[in-house]
Amino acid sequence: MRQNGCMLNHYIGLMSGTSLDGADGVLVDFLGGKPQVIATATESFSDDFRAELLALNAPGHNELHRAALAANQLAVVYARVVKALLDQGAAQGVPASHVQAVGAHGQTVRHQPPPGPSQASQASQASHAAYTLQLNNPALLAELTGLPVVADFRSRDLAAGGQGAPLAPAFHQGVFGQEDATVCVLNLGGISNLSVLPPKGTRAVQGFDCGTGNALMDAWCQRHTGQAFDASGAWAASGKLIPALLASLLDDLYFALPPPKSTGRDLFSAAWLDHKLAAFSRERPEDIQNTLTEFTVSPCVAGINSYAKDSKLLIVCGGGAFNQHLMQRLQASLPQLRVESSELQGLPPLQVEAAAFAWLARQAVLRQAGNLPSVTGAAGLRVLGAIYPA
Ligand SMILES: Nc1ncnc2c1ncn2[C@@H]1O[C@H](COP(=O)(O)OP(=O)(O)OP(=O)(O)O)[C@@H](O)[C@H]1O
Ligand SMILES: [Mg+2]
Repeated sequence: MRQNGCMLNHYIGLMSGTSLDGADGVLVDFLGGKPQVIATATESFSDDFRAELLALNAPGHNELHRAALAANQLAVVYARVVKALLDQGAAQGVPASHVQAVGAHGQTVRHQPPPGPSQASQASQASHAAYTLQLNNPALLAELTGLPVVADFRSRDLAAGGQGAPLAPAFHQGVFGQEDATVCVLNLGGISNLSVLPPKGTRAVQGFDCGTGNALMDAWCQRHTGQAFDASGAWAASGKLIPALLASLLDDLYFALPPPKSTGRDLFSAAWLDHKLAAFSRERPEDIQNTLTEFTVSPCVAGINSYAKDSKLLIVCGGGAFNQHLMQRLQASLPQLRVESSELQGLPPLQVEAAAFAWLARQAVLRQAGNLPSVTGAAGLRVLGAIYPA
């Protein structure tokens, strides 16, 4: 604890997700119930850094050395985001000395969770084969910022037999959960994750990775248009669905698995996409983009129809909330729900996951659990993360 009394509530969260677009940061005041974001900052990754991080998602030459250098580079980016947040905070009367800790997610380059219960036959041999790896240098970040840093949030849940993901549902419940209705929250980052938040105090929260989010749409868009992403989904909207391709994409064991489950670029890689596209080489690129959008939408819709039949509200966060075509496809596929951006709930889409890691840092500092065993499948509640003092 760095200060007394009413100043103990400020935390910074830093998220750089599987889209590899950059780092989003928030400075949050947790005083009095609902978290209040008092500063936001974002830093895009350079093209070279994004390419290197993408390359590090697969085995490659001298990767230990390159991973360590990438972790250092990420800490420098994170430190710039923290500085921008602290400058804004200071202007609002929140000096750096009030910030209790920085929750720094790191950059996932491998995610190999344990098999879920339905693959029990593999579980015994795989129980010590599970790991998740977020490149990060929290020691360097603590040096650069002068603030305590909390990092490596996922490993403890995995060590307890959980998926290590998703970790945002507990935060989603606190922010978006309602007393008398089931609310769904869909985060559309590189991967898509669904949180099902039943009326508070009734059933357990559920949550899992539905499948790919923006990652494959981004990859296809970059390859064919040179743009980092399909702004508003306009290019996808100009194309048509290719039903046979959608069926082929959905023909993967992951979609048949019940939760708990989580995934990443380890499975949904450019190589996986190329393999699936091999039989569709004559199709128009915009039709493939349209189909990839539907490939993101379809498992999310299936998850909601299976696990949140009674819900009337779907709150969408993550950069995918800016993809108007995707949002329209979600709404058309889920007529029983109102689909809306998290912005309408007072938390803009790119702030939600970063705020979740500010909350997770706070949980670690307070020695309180951050995971939900009902979501991750862990053996129990666990305090997540390692603390690097200032
Ligand atoms: N205006 C936009 N139109 C369409 N898509 C957008 C727009 N802005 C952002 N996106 C999409 O959102 C992505 C970034 O989203 P976000 O930062 O939530 O993902 P992430 O970093 O993978 O996060 P996480 O893995 O934590 O969920 C971009 O790569 C892009 O695909
Ligand atoms: Mg991002």
